[in-house]
Amino acid sequence: MKEQDKELSELNENGKEIPLKQDNSEKVQDKNKFFSFSKILLFIVVGAILIFGIIYIIKIYKKMNSKIELIITENYDEMSKKAADIIADIIKKNPNAHLGLATGGTPIGLYKELINKYQNKEISFKNIKTFNLDEYCDIPIDHKQSYYTYMQNNLFSHIDIDPKNTFIPKGEGDILKNIQEYEKLLEKYKINMQLLGIGSNGHIGFNEPGTKFDMGVHQVLLTQNTIKDNARFFDDDIDQVPKKAITMGIKNIIDAECIILVANGENKADAIKSIMDGKIDINIPATALNTHKGKVYIIIDKKAACKL
Ligand code: PGA
Repeated sequence: MKEQDKELSELNENGKEIPLKQDNSEKVQDKNKFFSFSKILLFIVVGAILIFGIIYIIKIYKKMNSKIELIITENYDEMSKKAADIIADIIKKNPNAHLGLATGGTPIGLYKELINKYQNKEISFKNIKTFNLDEYCDIPIDHKQSYYTYMQNNLFSHIDIDPKNTFIPKGEGDILKNIQEYEKLLEKYKINMQLLGIGSNGHIGFNEPGTKFDMGVHQVLLTQNTIKDNARFFDDDIDQVPKKAITMGIKNIIDAECIILVANGENKADAIKSIMDGKIDINIPATALNTHKGKVYIIIDKKAACKL
């Protein structure tokens, strides 16, 4: 028998100290309860601090190891200049570079800057090859809103590129054959720099939310969101916007040596935040950039950065 128990039974016999000892034992019990409650509380608090600390350290570690270079600019013009400077440097270093190009409203300013640089004899496109991300289906190549027409108007007709060196997926005719041919082309020519815009739903090229990251060139049905976003190029009439497109897949994009994504405006802020938070989520296709092994530049204006 333990010493404490012995003492307790002796006291029971003489009957005097019983209430006091019982009180003491209650107090001891209360004290024990209090200490075990404090211990649990302390355990929870320390645990929470540890978990949040680990998450914070992982986030910092990811940022330190991220290949993404985020450049936040004052406005659209500065964003365009910055992106054009980086592309011009790539061309200067490798005058035979293979450039992956994008369409949409965002790159127009940077194409203007590249045209200026060409006119100032800073760069030449003589030996450059270009590969566009995507093209609408079911509209003729010379339609005023085809990406073929866009590229002629916004870049190719103003620079010294050989038209034979400009490649854009074909959205008309035998689509399966067009897909296979474009895939073969991308296998043959490694893209040194892929330029990207981003949809408000996080799409890149026409890779809409839910697209698997390992897909190559394919045909897509555009989402209502993208059709609505692009109606501004079709007299604000969603009925005029093509419903299908042919696009490089995320795999083709990620295979590029270096990626430059440009974005401006508040409607892109959520998608940009998802990338910068380090997410990898097929429902936000642009988060595939977090799986890229090479250099990624994200060049955005202050409005697109407002949620960072
Ligand atoms: P935008 O489109 O540049 O016209 O906003 C970008 C995209 O949809 O990729």
